[in-house]
Amino acid sequence: MRSVDQGMQSIDESVKKLLSGGGKDIPLFKVFIPESVIEPLREVLLSGYIGEGPRVEEFEQQLAPWFNNDNVLALNNGTATLQLALRLANVGYGDEVVSTAMTCTATNEPILAMGAKIVWADIDPWTGNINPDDVAKKITPKTKAIMCVHWGGYPCDLDELNAIAAEHGIKLIEDACHAFSSIYHGKPIGSHSDFACFSFQAIKEMTTVDGGALVCKCKADRERGRLLRWYGIDRKSKRKDLRCEEDIVEYGYKFHMNDVTAVIGLEQLKYVGKTIENHRANAARYNEAFKELTAVRPLRYKDDRSSVCWMYTVRVKNRQKFMEHMKKAGVTVSQVHARNDLHTMFEDFRADLPGVGEFTSEQVSIPVGWWLTEKDLAHIINAVLEYERYLRPRIQEMKKPPRKYEKKTAHRPNL
Ligand SMILES: Cc1ncc(COP(=O)(O)O)c(C=O)c1O
Repeated sequence: MRSVDQGMQSIDESVKKLLSGGGKDIPLFKVFIPESVIEPLREVLLSGYIGEGPRVEEFEQQLAPWFNNDNVLALNNGTATLQLALRLANVGYGDEVVSTAMTCTATNEPILAMGAKIVWADIDPWTGNINPDDVAKKITPKTKAIMCVHWGGYPCDLDELNAIAAEHGIKLIEDACHAFSSIYHGKPIGSHSDFACFSFQAIKEMTTVDGGALVCKCKADRERGRLLRWYGIDRKSKRKDLRCEEDIVEYGYKFHMNDVTAVIGLEQLKYVGKTIENHRANAARYNEAFKELTAVRPLRYKDDRSSVCWMYTVRVKNRQKFMEHMKKAGVTVSQVHARNDLHTMFEDFRADLPGVGEFTSEQVSIPVGWWLTEKDLAHIINAVLEYERYLRPRIQEMKKPPRKYEKKTAHRPNL
């Protein structure tokens, strides 16, 4: 029989293969699972209690300071947090939600699941984030909520978005699935709006394998969400029969986290600060190295907020060529998310979105995470600079004004 250690080693090898093209390329994402999780995991697995229990509660309590907010609900994935937030915002059949197309489809599919309509607002093509001016234009009497996404972890214009939501008496839902521990105006994401939705999916800086946290501004929403995450059942109430609940007032879902994933989360919280520090430090290296480039341009970020840098997105001239070049250099790059509005499932909501068009034609993300060694960083920067050296003269050539008409006519035959 193989030992646990042998098993872990072979898992590690196959994961490396999957993530990094046979172990040769520098991966764009990598799963962080500390060895120290094995013992607590073993303990909970053999404890006889693996459902939603004390470890989930403990995980929620330990998450609270990360959001500067006690109203935390641990759920089984980020998509569930979004759907529950929409439900708590009372979004229902025929309502409208103003949302962004520049995201994972998981942001927008829950809107359809609620029977609501999506109204696309455009984005800032230099951040990837929703544009509050366009959001304001898209509000109608049917709008129930605004959905924003912090692209790569860079916070949206939350003051402006919250002001629009307050003016119209509607809810702001932050899809913060890229933004665990990002900071806006000195406070962490999770402490600004009606709802913030986090994902602890496999490749996030903070992972529980799958999992998520819904953070509510208001205690009453947290309380209602606590019931709805488990079929509307109050698991804390005393029952006459162990398995049979009293009356259920409102239908719910099976969205709760369990003690097994919560134990992984509790262990991850010991490391995630350091993981995030690494992401931020690597991003700062890129910002410095790429600040003068014309072919590969970093996004334009303000100093009043700080991204957790889950992704490092650049805008690139002739992206296909860049992607081929990076692949040859052994660096995995990707657009990560495609614009959502062009999917057939969203075809009823088509709109003119020039910002999305501009961003989507040039954006691509390069590896920025905790796994990069000094050698990897130097190699990636070198590969980007090599591309710049190749493309810059061509861009300058394209920028030159066309030759003057008179010169051409000087050689014309006299007709
Ligand atoms: C922006 C965004 N929203 C939502 C989700 C869905 O999260 P989950 O996979 O945990 O359901 C993701 C997942 O990566 C995401 O990137």
